[in-house]
Amino acid sequence: MKVTWVLPRGDEVVAEVAEGTSLMEAAVANNVAGVDGECGGSLSCATCHVQVDADWREKTGEVGEFEDAMLDMVEDRSDASRLSCQVRMSPALDGIRLTVPEPG
Ligand code: FES
Repeated sequence: MKVTWVLPRGDEVVAEVAEGTSLMEAAVANNVAGVDGECGGSLSCATCHVQVDADWREKTGEVGEFEDAMLDMVEDRSDASRLSCQVRMSPALDGIRLTVPEPG
């Protein structure tokens, strides 16, 4: 299944991602600059912040309570913001496009 990350300068990273892999893990595995996943997915760093393209937002599900609190720490939070450690790859997300925020 395919995931595309759009970097702040417009470059794109496209990768094949297996079902069940978090989008943070996939980004780290594919050296996506700007997605660090420092806490390993335990919802305590927000270095996995991405913006989900509009067409895909509903398919990624609801922002969780702790994710919401953590996203409040992110300067450039928007309606598209997700912590990518909280989104797991599934067939419904095949083709998803994510934008990596400008470095803070
Ligand atoms: S990897 Fe730390 S909050 Fe997602």
